[in-house]
Order: sequence, then C-alpha cells, then structure tokens
Amino acid sequence: MPQFISVFPHENPYTHLPDAEKFFSKGRIVTEEGAPITADYEGNRYLLVAKKEEMTPEGKRITRIAHPIFGPHPPADLPQVTTVDIPPDLVEFVNQHTDALLGGEPLDGVEYFQSRYDSRVFTKSDWPDIICKFSPKSKERYKSICRSRAVCQSLSLHHLVVPLATLVPINLPFPLLVEERLNISRGERAQERDYTIYKDDLHEPIRQLAHFIIETGFSDVTWRNVPVIVPPTPEGSIGLVDLEEFAEPLTGLFGGFHRRGLVCCIGLDQIPIVTKVCQQRDLQFNHLPRIIEQRKKELAAQ
Ligand SMILES: Nc1ncnc2c1ncn2[C@@H]1O[C@H](COP(=O)(O)OP(=O)(O)O)[C@@H](O)[C@H]1O
Ligand SMILES: [Mg+2]
Repeated sequence: MPQFISVFPHENPYTHLPDAEKFFSKGRIVTEEGAPITADYEGNRYLLVAKKEEMTPEGKRITRIAHPIFGPHPPADLPQVTTVDIPPDLVEFVNQHTDALLGGEPLDGVEYFQSRYDSRVFTKSDWPDIICKFSPKSKERYKSICRSRAVCQSLSLHHLVVPLATLVPINLPFPLLVEERLNISRGERAQERDYTIYKDDLHEPIRQLAHFIIETGFSDVTWRNVPVIVPPTPEGSIGLVDLEEFAEPLTGLFGGFHRRGLVCCIGLDQIPIVTKVCQQRDLQFNHLPRIIEQRKKELAAQ
C-alpha cells in the first residue's frame, strides 16, 4: 500500500487543501512503498511534491502527494538487456590507465567528451564503434537504458535511438558503461545547429520525444543529451545518449532550474507539435506563454 497518493501534475485533486507546515521530504524520489530508492530497486519511482492536511471529525489527516516519474514496468516479453561487442583489449587498457582517464589526461588515440563533473566520457580511435563512460551511477544508467529501449519499443517510438549498452567490470567500485557510438556532431553548438539544419526531418522525432518524456519523466533535455543523428535516417533521428535524470515530465518538456527543456531546443513553429502531444496526454502547463516569449527572445538574439 503506497504511503502517498500518486497523481499526475494536471489531475492533482488536493491542491485546495492547505500545505502541511513542515515537509522535509519534498522533492525526494521514493519507491512504490514510499521508501528511499536503493541501487537494486527496479520498480516505479515517485517524486514527493506536496504534503496536505485537513481537519476531519477524527482529527488532522495528512496526505502526501507524489507524481509518477517513470512509466509502469514494460511488459516482461520486451528485451531488458542490451549488449555491444567489447574489444578484447578494453578492460586491460582501462585498468592500466584508470587514473589518467579519470583525470582527462592526454592518451594515445583517446578523445574526451564534455560531460558532468562526476563522470568521464571517452572514445579511443582503435574502437570506433563504442563510447565509454565512467560514472558512479553506471548501473542505474544501464537500467534506465534498458527501460527506455523497452518504452520506445512498446510505444513504437522508432525515431528515437537509445544506444545499445553493456556494463563492463573494471577495477573501480562501479562498472564501466560502454555504449554503441551514434553518429552525432561533436560539441553542443554543432548539436544545437543540427536542430536547425535538419529541422524538416525532425517533426516526427520531436513528437515522439515529447511522448517519451511524458511516459518516463526524462528531464535533462538539452541538445547534447538528445542530439540529432546525422544525417537523419528513416529508422531514427534523435539519439537518447544521457538517460540519467528522470525527475518529472514538465521539466523535460518545458525546462526548469538549469534545465532547458524540449520546447527551448526546437523552432517556434515546432512548439505546437509538443503542445498537441500534451493535449492528447492531458498534461497542462500554465507558463507556456512565458516560455515561448523567452525562446523568441533567445532566437532573435542569435
Ligand atoms: N552513445 C553515444 N554516441 C555518440 N556520442 C555520445 C554517446 N553518448 C554520449 N556521447 C557524447 O558524449 C557527451 C557526454 O556524454 P553523457 O552521457 O551525456 O555524459 P554526462 O552524463 O556526463 O552528461 C554527450 O553530450 C555526447 O556528445
Ligand atoms: Mg550529458
């Protein structure tokens, strides 16, 4: 029995009740039982958003409210595991040069990619088809990759490409995440430009990305995390290369603190593609006019 009421943001029936005075768990992500997420937890996740109280004849009643942030488990017959071919010399190379790689030091044939402070992403010229990621959250990321592939398959989101991936044990407390390398431009400026260059090919991929965000709560949406695969192929055009943050759908769609959001990655004339999906999925967002104004100004300044 969940210790909270799970509702989507637009259908919250408890907004008229007063907020509880203290709510220390706000923003916490919890399991179906309301417990903290552990590394091996595979069930649905919920974001605690409100704690309401009301007076009843029996006394004060407290209700916690949470938004689901990852869609229901995919059906069991969908593939849960993905894999890529691992070059035979990879583990030895990584174990031999762990410190240098973690430090981003120059090494023969190794190229580093812009990544978060707590991760290190690199390729090596001998292994052109893969990209390697050190991340303390590599196990979680791998699970998100498997789930995301299943979501794309079950919703027929064939224009989104989730790279194949494998976890490789190395001499660190976490395994190395090795992914199929997608053909995307280098650097965020180029990845941003691709959204303009290939604009006409992206209407359907953007529609599908909006569905994916609503379904999963994927929230770190910016060009470098959802780059265009160049040139766009009939089988898929947007790569989902950074499936780490699943906070909640509104942030993924419309942005938030330090988060750009899908509508601020695309052209003004493509925004209706996203809003139509929101209507179909019954998702409301009151600040859209402000976000569109902001995007207009940003584009005009370019
Ligand atoms: N599978 C991939 N194929 C091609 N390029 C990738 C792939 N995964 C990541 N990259 C590139 O490496 C960058 C950093 O990877 P990412 O997983 O986003 O790291 P972080 O989680 O630290 O942001 C991405 O922005 C992208 O340019
Ligand atoms: Mg990233």
